[in-house]
Amino acid sequence: MSNLDVLVLPGDGIGPEVTTEAISVLKRACEKGGIALSLEEADFGGASIDAHGAPITQATLDRARLADGVLLGACGGPKWDDLPTDKRPEKGLLALREHMEVFANLRPAKLFAPLAESSPLKAERAAGFDFIVVRELVGGIYFGKPRFIEGEGAARKGVNTLVYDESEILRIGRVAFETARKRRKKLLSVDKANVLEVMGLWREVMTELGKEYSDVELDHMYVDNAAMQLILRPTDFDVLVTGNMFGDILSDLAAAATGSIGLLPSAALGEKCALYEPVHGSAPDIAGQAKANPLAAIMSIAMLLEHTAKRSDLSGAIYGAVEDVLADGLRTGDLAKQGDKVLSTGEMGAAVLAKVEARLG
Ligand code: IPM
Ligand code: MG
Repeated sequence: MSNLDVLVLPGDGIGPEVTTEAISVLKRACEKGGIALSLEEADFGGASIDAHGAPITQATLDRARLADGVLLGACGGPKWDDLPTDKRPEKGLLALREHMEVFANLRPAKLFAPLAESSPLKAERAAGFDFIVVRELVGGIYFGKPRFIEGEGAARKGVNTLVYDESEILRIGRVAFETARKRRKKLLSVDKANVLEVMGLWREVMTELGKEYSDVELDHMYVDNAAMQLILRPTDFDVLVTGNMFGDILSDLAAAATGSIGLLPSAALGEKCALYEPVHGSAPDIAGQAKANPLAAIMSIAMLLEHTAKRSDLSGAIYGAVEDVLADGLRTGDLAKQGDKVLSTGEMGAAVLAKVEARLG
């Protein structure tokens, strides 16, 4: 039997509700798959600010590095919105990503056939789209130095720095090419090389790296054009690779195209650590009301079983179970159309669990 050590950081808002459902699925998949699972939970985000005065403690940062995988719910909420930038819940997430060195963020987005009508895009354009954004996660303008606000009055100035060195571009590029190799072998590198020096370097390094992956078709696009093309012809895309901020923006665009941000899981991978989280936020407006869609959190568990436990049999059963419940017409509020029965978070979680059991026998 293999072992799997998972640290759970439920966080704020709907985070605890969706992680509860995801953990039930993880437990059952591990039981069925002969994996000895050990689970530990820690405070994170606003919950950690309230309990410990910081969005993440050093002890939790260190514990996270030792775990095989970390599952995160969501962070932030109105209660903590007035704190200065360096004390906000989001700072805990950025510190965690940095400390775990999880530089490669995989954000798959696909339009599930039964949800074709939920997408704001016309069905004839969007039907069957299935792509993945590979976002650089621990560099770029999110972390570049110098960063500050200084001065007084009209001379007050805010500065951030967009910087990538060649090694950072190479390592995210490799993950993207490898990801494309396992899919339809098409990689689009998204940059702003027409304006920014750092993006000129990005394009040059990606092009050079592409020579090592002659089986993968590499293209380049400026980010503004990429945003437009993703809406106009989403089915043409397979794997996109881009920097931290462009990836943040394009992945929300991708989420909207699927019909609900409640459907996007993610994996953030480093050399040693892995962090899994739904792309959606803490949704304070529906928190504590059992209305949240747990599918993104549940599919984040599938990504954990796929990438960390290397158990594609178990991850496949979970992805399949999600397809099954959607095909059965089961809907949480974010997906429901007029007249649909609306399931609670727990009911949707239980439905997926039943399908996982049916698939794993
Ligand atoms: C995301 C979020 C985060 C980001 C925030 C919460 C810091 O938007 O994971 O996409 O900007 O990376
Ligand atoms: Mg974002």
